[in-house]
Amino acid sequence: MNRYSVILAAGKGSRMKSRDENISKVSYQILGKPLVRYVLDAIKPLDLTQTVVVVGFGGKTTTSIVQDRAEVVWQHELLGTGHALMQAEPVLGTKEGTTIVLCGDTPLLKTETLERLFKKHESSNAAMTILTAVLENPKGYGRIIRDRTNGVVAIREDKDCSTEESLVAEINSGVYIFNNELLFKYLKNIKNNNAQNEYYLTDLVDLFVKDGLKVDALIVEDAEEMFGINDRLQLSYAAKVLKKRINKQLMLSGVTIEDPNTTYISPDVIIGRDTTICPNTTILGSSEIGEGNIIGPNAYLKDAYVGDDNKVTLSHIVDSTIGSSNVVGPYARIAENTVVTNYCNVGNFVELRNTTLEQGVTISNLSYLGNTKVGNKSTVKGLTSTNGEDGNTIIGQNVVLSEGTIVVSPINVGDNSITPQNTVVDQDIKEVKTKKEGK
Ligand code: UD1
Ligand code: MG
Repeated sequence: MNRYSVILAAGKGSRMKSRDENISKVSYQILGKPLVRYVLDAIKPLDLTQTVVVVGFGGKTTTSIVQDRAEVVWQHELLGTGHALMQAEPVLGTKEGTTIVLCGDTPLLKTETLERLFKKHESSNAAMTILTAVLENPKGYGRIIRDRTNGVVAIREDKDCSTEESLVAEINSGVYIFNNELLFKYLKNIKNNNAQNEYYLTDLVDLFVKDGLKVDALIVEDAEEMFGINDRLQLSYAAKVLKKRINKQLMLSGVTIEDPNTTYISPDVIIGRDTTICPNTTILGSSEIGEGNIIGPNAYLKDAYVGDDNKVTLSHIVDSTIGSSNVVGPYARIAENTVVTNYCNVGNFVELRNTTLEQGVTISNLSYLGNTKVGNKSTVKGLTSTNGEDGNTIIGQNVVLSEGTIVVSPINVGDNSITPQNTVVDQDIKEVKTKKEGK
């Protein structure tokens, strides 16, 4: 049977109190990744035929975040969750199968739980299966109303609850699976005669039950999973939970994390065995770190590709590649597609942009290389710079750029040459033949 999904992500998120009118709640990030991407990741292994994301407030931003993985539909007026779901009808309305509906602001949901919900729904003849949780403090959530035989008969929104109903501890997580045909057939019948004058998707329960259709529920074991983000306090709480989960998984796979409390690693990062992550380190994006490295303390890596056996201390590496057996830092800034191959030494206080260091290059104190290529075993001494703005600088092999060399690009510095200290190089320097070659 085909499986589909709809993620509701049109809501405003006013409690985030942003000065930016156009930012949607689901685009707020945890560990460098937007909230709705966590939901997309959780459903990815579920073997879905199609995913639809309903966008509205800040919809342009949300679209740019999800469009590689989902079809986008717009909800132009925010009239409630039922109305939001109706916007998916042109895409899914005629399909046969089951449809999971989720919210875009619940980054802690786990695939295993959603798979269990699918299994339960698919093995019963229910029209709808709700993921529920039992909470100590259910305030704010829709309550699950059951009859004497324990069957689910309604979801009552917090604002519409009687005093007795508000004491119910079992709540609606906002995740449901439906028989797709029945979903879109009954969705047309929901009304907005409630405390918020909204079209509640949760009213479907009542409509199904009245027509003798079965509504089932699965109680989630760990209620934390359904935690939704409405304000920045909740954002930081969810970040803490995710950070803990990711660090735990890495440690169990053979990575040493000296201080998990101050280590921030995005879920998409790959780290090899016997690599040690020292305190105050952040690794984001799709970074890949090999084996046997020492990263940190105080390192920041984003979309960085790092081989094996490197030492990276107090440094920034962004959009760049580091090979193997290099020493980077303290205080190196490496960016803009820089490639440091192998056995290089970069630091202290060195900046590299769009630069390639071949094997065994040393670049030291307070130097800057931009748009530069440095050949094997060359040395760039302190206070040296290549501005690289007017073209590339090509530095050959075994070159020594002595202290205080200013290279005015575009320039070629030939193999084996040595610049005097404190010079401006504004013309090409020819290769110096070594004795062996000159014979
Ligand atoms: C909803 C449920 C409630 C449940 C809770 C779980 C309804 C009526 N209530 O309440 O039973 O306990 O989630 O967190 O469904 N959205 C839209 N368009 C809209 C309104 C909302 O896309 O017009 C989206 C929001 O972006 C959000 C999701 O739907 O992702 C849920 O909306 P929200 O306003 O947070 O609903 P709750 O009041 O929390
Ligand atoms: Mg909510």
